[in-house]
Amino acid sequence: MIISIANFKGGVGKSTVTHNLGFALARRGFGVLMVDMDAQANLTMSCNVGFSQLDVSVYELMAAKAGKGDKQLKPEDAIFRFGDVDLIPASILLARADLDFSGAVNRERLLARALKDVVGEYDIVLLDCPPNLGLVTQNALAISDMVLIPTTAEFLPVKGVDIFIQGVQDFVEEIENSDLAIGGIIINMLNKSRSLTWELVNLLKDGPLGELVFESMIPVNVAISEAQAQGQTVYDYNPESKGAKAFEALADEFLKRFTNEGVENGEKESVNH
Ligand SMILES: Nc1ncnc2c1ncn2[C@@H]1O[C@H](COP(=O)(O)OP(=O)(O)O)[C@@H](O)[C@H]1O
Ligand SMILES: [Mg+2]
Repeated sequence: MIISIANFKGGVGKSTVTHNLGFALARRGFGVLMVDMDAQANLTMSCNVGFSQLDVSVYELMAAKAGKGDKQLKPEDAIFRFGDVDLIPASILLARADLDFSGAVNRERLLARALKDVVGEYDIVLLDCPPNLGLVTQNALAISDMVLIPTTAEFLPVKGVDIFIQGVQDFVEEIENSDLAIGGIIINMLNKSRSLTWELVNLLKDGPLGELVFESMIPVNVAISEAQAQGQTVYDYNPESKGAKAFEALADEFLKRFTNEGVENGEKESVNH
């Protein structure tokens, strides 16, 4: 199952969710590949991969399919392996992707062609998208079975969720990936003591998108951001933290929603379509 973690807002937790959900699913026995699709490379940095270690990032893999650079590159050339989880890193070059690949044939399918030989080796592929609906996000959506949308419970981000979904749906029609599902909305950085927060959560839950909202919400929790700064997951950094527990609950809810409740008996279930 290939999943885009996307929203055209920045700072809502796309990279944080990709990182911690990815490792949570791996801890539950799933084979996980995370792909950093954002030029800011936050996911790459959260995995402690430095730019000096980067020979090949997702940019070069896509460039190869756009007829630029080394055409012999294989996905394996870009993969970092961390025990249970694999990562294809991003580099700053991705910021030029819209420009560099604008003339490429079938330019929304460069990622699909770049990854086609490896995606089948994983149960779950998570694509950490940049904060826009540009060519890179479009490449991610074009191979995804589902999109998960993190948002904060702030006024403008909540308002932005329907606009983003509309944008995704328009794009899906354009490229005819009618299989793409809006998998869910993840509320992140919940501040439980603010009444506005709950008003906005209820606004989302009672609205037409209500069914999509995950019950498990991620609180504002300093362990989450501190872990990132250390290049660790929140489970490694502080397994007892509220943040770690919230991500565990989110991973269980995810599996319950999208697999045959494999978590109930601790057995791994395939989530491939
Ligand atoms: N639940 C949380 N609690 C505390 N800090 C968080 C939480 N979620 C994200 N952050 C911090 O907020 C910032 C933005 O998160 P990030 O995942 O990079 O967002 P995005 O990828 O959408 O731009 C990061 O510095 C991250 O550490
Ligand atoms: Mg990010």
